[in-house]
Amino acid sequence: MKRFVLFLMLGSLFFLNTVAQNRIVVHVSEPGPKIDKAVYGHFAEHLGHCIYGGIYVGENSPIPNIRGFRKDVVEALKAMKVGILRWPGGCFADTYHWRDGIGPRNERPSIINVHWGGVTEDNSFGTHEFLDFCEVIGAEPYINLNVGSGTVREASEWVEYVTSSNKSPMTELRKKNGREDPWNVKYWAVGNETWGCGGNMRPEYYADVYKQFASFLRAPGIYKIASGANSEDYKWTEVLMREAKWMMNGLSLHYYTVPFDWSKKGSATQFDEKVWFQTFSKTLKMEELVTKHAAVMDQFDPKKKVGLLVDEWGCWYDVEPGTNPGFLYQQSSLRDALVAGINLNIFNNHADRVRMANIAQMINVLQSVILTKDQEMVLTPTYYVFKMYNVHQEANMLPVEVQSYPYTLEGNSLNAVHCSASVKDGMVSITLCNLDPQKNQDVEFDLRGFVPAKVSGQIVTGKSINAFNDFGKKEEVSLSEFKGAEIVKGKLSAKLPSKSVVLIQLQ
Ligand code: AHR
Repeated sequence: MKRFVLFLMLGSLFFLNTVAQNRIVVHVSEPGPKIDKAVYGHFAEHLGHCIYGGIYVGENSPIPNIRGFRKDVVEALKAMKVGILRWPGGCFADTYHWRDGIGPRNERPSIINVHWGGVTEDNSFGTHEFLDFCEVIGAEPYINLNVGSGTVREASEWVEYVTSSNKSPMTELRKKNGREDPWNVKYWAVGNETWGCGGNMRPEYYADVYKQFASFLRAPGIYKIASGANSEDYKWTEVLMREAKWMMNGLSLHYYTVPFDWSKKGSATQFDEKVWFQTFSKTLKMEELVTKHAAVMDQFDPKKKVGLLVDEWGCWYDVEPGTNPGFLYQQSSLRDALVAGINLNIFNNHADRVRMANIAQMINVLQSVILTKDQEMVLTPTYYVFKMYNVHQEANMLPVEVQSYPYTLEGNSLNAVHCSASVKDGMVSITLCNLDPQKNQDVEFDLRGFVPAKVSGQIVTGKSINAFNDFGKKEEVSLSEFKGAEIVKGKLSAKLPSKSVVLIQLQ
């Protein structure tokens, strides 16, 4: 009898975990908040070849350039649409003294980049170059101030130099350096990882430091950002919200996807299905982090005035063999495309609180969208996901309910299908990831309050889980038309190929 009851219990558990089909409800008639274009943000630090070689080669370079910015990179970024660009770090920000990077280039002092390889930084890419670059690629700029080794005066003068139109020693200096009008820089962060490389502070101590700095950042309409938690450090968020929420517009969060642990990150391209699965279970933690940090913020800020800004996220693997360990140069495979799709879906779904996210980092560092080698440039699988997902920028998120088949490996399961949706100018965009590397997924959609007449789509996929794009070779992963969705009698269904990221658009 006991055995029979156990059998029934196990049977019902199995039944509960089993879904009859992949089914997604999209609440088209209940649009949510706008997905800020800053959620499609990037991060460029003075680290390895992100700035030098990646963005900036100098006006005298044989590599075609616009005022020193690589032309190929500029064109690719414009096509992808960079929502916002964070600079100059990262850990580098708390060693950066902005006055070293203005004025005639041949008179700028050099410094040692102590965090990243101990290389000499000649400061040829500074404030003017960064803001010029943002204008060239059409990105909103975001500047991270130096708290760790900087002063309140230095920070306050940087804001004045950049944003003020009044007559002052700072604005005169700016004009002398060739820029008559102020730039419109809204986003300013007070320090970076102040719990770590930015000063190893306690949250209580940093909350006071933050308020001190924020008091002297004076410019109309600027958006002040406090350095937020590392991963699941909810206490950090709680203390900052309790002590300083009234002086901040945004609070950051950093979380990197490391497949195993920091001592065993693994190769960017040489991995098996076990690592593929493990990478996704680690990256899906972002859902939990955003939900729980937002819940802490809700206690202090129920009207959601303060944004949660995930201003560093992405995959962190071992550096490519033979490269400088301090340069964090890694390849990017189809696995990274799925990681990007999953995280961007999570941010879209939390648009009520997540107002910015910056993948680390834009070029040649960690989960880059672009890799460069001398004259050559490679667009990574992550690039194509960002390009495909740009339809969500400034669109209204649509709530989704996902019922998914499990993707199971060695007794562990994840949902195979991951999704977010938005609407803009009457166009409904649904982005989907199929994490299963073997099985296609048939999905039935229930579009509440919407009968689609026309469907189109795009897809990012490749032949193997570790397919990647390499210099001088035909692309293994790119963007192509998706023909696997159809509307029959007003009902949408789709077949998602295994290991793919898909966009479906409906009118
Ligand atoms: O993105 C690389 C580094 O990771 C950043 O400089 C730092 O903020 C983080 O620890």
